[in-house]
Amino acid sequence: MTRVLVIGAGIAGLWTAVRAADAGCEVELVTKAGLGAGSTAYAQGGIAAALFPDDSADRHAADTLAAGAGLCDPRAVRVLCEEGPARVRDLIRFGVEFDRNGEGLARGLEAAHSRARILHAGGDATGAEIERALVATVRRRAVAIHEHATLVDLLVEHGRAVGAVVLDAGGERAEYRADVVVLATGGAGRLFRHTTNPDVATGDGVAAAWRAGAEVADLEFVQFHPTALAAPGTPLVSEAVRGEGAVLRDATGARFMTAIDPRGELAPRDVVARAVWRRMAEQDGAPVLLDATGLEAEDPGFLARRFPGIDRAVRDAGFDWAVAPVPITPAAHYAMGGVTTDLWGRTTLAGLLAVGEVARTGVHGANRLASNSLLEAAVFAERAAAAIAGDAPARASSFRPVAPRPADASVDDARPLVDREALQALMWDRVGLERDAAGLAEASSLLAGWRAPDPVDRRTAEDRNLLDLARLTTAAALARRESVGAHFRSDASAAASVHPAPAAADLARPDREAA
Ligand code: SIN
Repeated sequence: MTRVLVIGAGIAGLWTAVRAADAGCEVELVTKAGLGAGSTAYAQGGIAAALFPDDSADRHAADTLAAGAGLCDPRAVRVLCEEGPARVRDLIRFGVEFDRNGEGLARGLEAAHSRARILHAGGDATGAEIERALVATVRRRAVAIHEHATLVDLLVEHGRAVGAVVLDAGGERAEYRADVVVLATGGAGRLFRHTTNPDVATGDGVAAAWRAGAEVADLEFVQFHPTALAAPGTPLVSEAVRGEGAVLRDATGARFMTAIDPRGELAPRDVVARAVWRRMAEQDGAPVLLDATGLEAEDPGFLARRFPGIDRAVRDAGFDWAVAPVPITPAAHYAMGGVTTDLWGRTTLAGLLAVGEVARTGVHGANRLASNSLLEAAVFAERAAAAIAGDAPARASSFRPVAPRPADASVDDARPLVDREALQALMWDRVGLERDAAGLAEASSLLAGWRAPDPVDRRTAEDRNLLDLARLTTAAALARRESVGAHFRSDASAAASVHPAPAAADLARPDREAA
């Protein structure tokens, strides 16, 4: 029986664990916090798929490729968009209750989608509902679950991943051995001072895979969400709010997006995020405003019905968005890059797979299309489970093993230990929405001046990962000299192909659903 170790318990990890167990594997799942603590449960907007008669996989693929600014892998995009609808039906079978209206599944519109194709649940609690259903599903399988178990390093023997070293809940080191290891550890928003990500998002899987010798790619492509609430914790205010018709205003109350892009507030996420960032700079750092009052004027009670979680967060922060615009700011949201995989989740290191945000499948290119992340996790987790079960073609010959990276610090290293808050501030200031060679070089040299701690507990293990990933991200941003997608170099020209805008008439409005 194939022994599978899954690391991470968001949609990607839970899905892989369920389907590997269904295929007869012996599955162990380890997760750094409790089940449900990862980014999946934070996803608001929804999951995109071409499920409606006015839509098609081709249309979804065209939107995904356009948002990706010419750097998507078209084969991966085709897989995503063609297999997406079947995976959404699987989610319904797993017990996910998507919102419905009189016509069936309700759907919303988000930026850079030419059709309303975003399914949602609980209004703005799509990820939480998916996590709930998948946790219930995995508990019905014979999967051994270890919570509060922090990945330290992958075990590699004879050029193959054979397990992982993990710190258990009591801080003891333990080795988990397996025939196949699946990384599903999510993203790394905590590299930056402002993020919509939960505190577990410290890039553990990418850093560990890189140290083990796996290839990583596209780390310069970090997606900044344009509309986090400018309040402690920068909670996300879903793009779906703009999809319903909310607009952005500057400090004088004027709309500014339509002068920047014909798609206005529904331009691709990187375009809107940079526009917000610049407008904030022009008004001495004062936040831009998100104005949803028109939605409420049209339909009293709409905001609380359609977006109950955001409504709560906004009110908890002391704002009433039904009567006045609320302050927003960009925040780090999603890593397009990660551990390089083929179309079956296989990395360049034998025995190691990667699924979900930790992976770089090629579907997102330089900028992810909104609500494609949950879909990517589902589609490629299904494929990873098929690969584990032996139902995938042989690995591409271009995959070549790399020697594991040596430890950065020696025992007599005199450099100071990395300071997490200082690292996050540095990444935000120098490796954030706008970058230039001087700032990146400065970041690179400051990062080199820090030493990683010994990973003796969760905090130190995370700090080591954040330092490795910050260095890798900065180096990738320095190496890519042009501006493309989410990677904007203020000292360089834009790459040729960015975001062809569909005709305005082609931007389908969402059907307003009954909550
Ligand atoms: C959002 O709801 O705006 C976020 C959705 C996503 O990241 O795709």
